[in-house]
Amino acid sequence: MPKALLLSRSDKTVTSTIRELNEDELPEGDVVVDVRYSSINYKDALAVTGKGRIIRGSYPFVPGIDLAGTVRSSSSPQFSPGDQVIGTGWGLGENHWGGYSTTMRLQSKWLVPMPDGMSAKTAMGLGTAGFTAMLSVLALEEHNIQPASGEVLVTGATGGVGSLSIALLHKRGYTVVASTGKSEAAEFLTFLGADRIIDRQQLGQGPIKPLDTGYWAGAVDTVGGPTLSAILSQTNRHGSVAACGLAGGAMLDTSVFPFILRGVNLLGIDSNTCPADRRIQAWDQLSKDISESLMDELSHVVPLSEVPEWCDTLMAGKIKGRIIVDVTAG
Ligand SMILES: NC(=O)c1ccc[n+]([C@@H]2O[C@H](COP(=O)([O-])OP(=O)(O)OC[C@H]3O[C@@H](n4cnc5c(N)ncnc54)[C@H](OP(=O)(O)O)[C@@H]3O)[C@@H](O)[C@H]2O)c1
Repeated sequence: MPKALLLSRSDKTVTSTIRELNEDELPEGDVVVDVRYSSINYKDALAVTGKGRIIRGSYPFVPGIDLAGTVRSSSSPQFSPGDQVIGTGWGLGENHWGGYSTTMRLQSKWLVPMPDGMSAKTAMGLGTAGFTAMLSVLALEEHNIQPASGEVLVTGATGGVGSLSIALLHKRGYTVVASTGKSEAAEFLTFLGADRIIDRQQLGQGPIKPLDTGYWAGAVDTVGGPTLSAILSQTNRHGSVAACGLAGGAMLDTSVFPFILRGVNLLGIDSNTCPADRRIQAWDQLSKDISESLMDELSHVVPLSEVPEWCDTLMAGKIKGRIIVDVTAG
């Protein structure tokens, strides 16, 4: 019988329990996956702690926006039993039960084949965070940002998306500047490939000039809010900023000057509804750029039973790198 972490909600309080499910409790879908690993992302932490209205399905609900495992049965011609697959996005763990279950039934169109040579554990070390980092880097490069363009800034540097963006940019030859609120994380960020580290207080504190000195050729911004406003005003001519997160705020106060006087591009990144071809391209590129050994260094594996406490730690902003969930343990 599948074993899952289920969330219940009463009033504003969300509680979690681990229990066995009957297979007929699983939602509808054309593929059944034996899930081996999942991960903890910012959205998962919001869902499990109840601090954000992420879950749009009804309770009880199985969260987990990522999963990797083996197809057990399929009525889709796209997948056969034994295929290794990755599921991220398309409302998994938000509208539809997600990866915190040893078995899940879901739609084949939400899955991509595991890239050759990538293990389920590495795939979940990457998860939505790594996938989003890759989409951000691809978007910058498609807007003519190259290693010779100049420094590329990464904000929320010790987070999942941030840390993997640093590793990807470094691997591809960029000079990377990491912005962090964790002064103790310098060694970790340098290990990932950061060439320079700045304190996050340097971005978005105090009044933001419509056009500041141009420092950045490009940026991957996971923080949003005043941080993104500051980055836009500090981006060099024809530079690009991939905006993918809101860890520091959802509102954006800016002017048109970076766009009309410097030709700055603000690139929106949405991993959730990313089309299938682009997904496969990004996962294949991840399999080339990120090694298993780097992922082992960067991630920490926890059993399903510890997911709630790790979600609290993530919400407290105390995590460096990625948390992989071994759904078959605990
Ligand atoms: N667009 C998409 O498709 C997509 C996909 C995945 C994630 N996201 C979003 O991207 C963001 C990062 O996700 P994640 O999974 O990497 O989360 P995470 O692991 O929790 O990392 C977020 C990082 O942001 C920094 N941070 C936290 N609170 C902050 C604050 N108040 N002000 C400034 N910086 C703060 C911290 O890094 P430092 O301590 O190093 O500064 C933290 O480690 C989230 O907003 C998430 O919702 C978007």
